[in-house]
Amino acid sequence: MSSKVVVAIDGPSGSGKSSTSRGAADRLALRYLDTGAMFRAMTWFMLSEGVDVHDREAVAAKADEPEIESGTDPHGPAILVNGEDVAAAIREPEVTNAVSPVSIVPEVRSRLLDLQRSIIGEGGIVVEGRDIGSVVWPQAEVKLYLTANTDARARRRAAEEGGSDVSGVAESLLARDKIDSGRRTAPLTMPAGAVHIDTTPFTLDEVISQVVALATEASGSGT
Ligand code: DC
Repeated sequence: MSSKVVVAIDGPSGSGKSSTSRGAADRLALRYLDTGAMFRAMTWFMLSEGVDVHDREAVAAKADEPEIESGTDPHGPAILVNGEDVAAAIREPEVTNAVSPVSIVPEVRSRLLDLQRSIIGEGGIVVEGRDIGSVVWPQAEVKLYLTANTDARARRRAAEEGGSDVSGVAESLLARDKIDSGRRTAPLTMPAGAVHIDTTPFTLDEVISQVVALATEASGSGT
């Protein structure tokens, strides 16, 4: 496997993106970057500063403040804000409910875009998000767009969160989809040249194998 390949994996939450990206990075011995965790870290910072996340100007004014460090180990990607480990805190419902309005703000996106591009650097990485193949790294050798039907997505997310309120989770997923797909800057969309995989009928292992095959083929063809 060429160590330079960039695999961009986009799609809505619950589509199997995170498990697929981590599994593929592990099997391909590549680094892994979870850009959603960076938006969550920015959101955690805004909440900890008492910023009203619906006030775009207030969010924009603070977007340059936090130092955000993202690890790239697929087995346990670190995420730190001003040196503080926020890996668990960014998965709390307060952050999940506030992340879409923070992600809309152009100053937040451009700050994180710079960070994401510098981490991707020379490649050798699987990157997951909403706009990786369209905006962050359109030149990625492999671009994937993962989806799954709403029921499958809600069941997976509810299981991850250890809860049983599948219909509540479905509602929250659909609300976030609407904001993520409708925003002006870098909306969630299937990038040009992406391979679309509907993961609904497949096991995680089957999806990972498809990604590994595509990445192996791309690096074998000398790209
Ligand atoms: O993948 P996730 O659920 O952890 O992402 C959290 C939020 O971050 C998601 O609702 C939209 C935003 N996001 C984004 O706008 N662009 C990305 N590249 C990744 C995530």
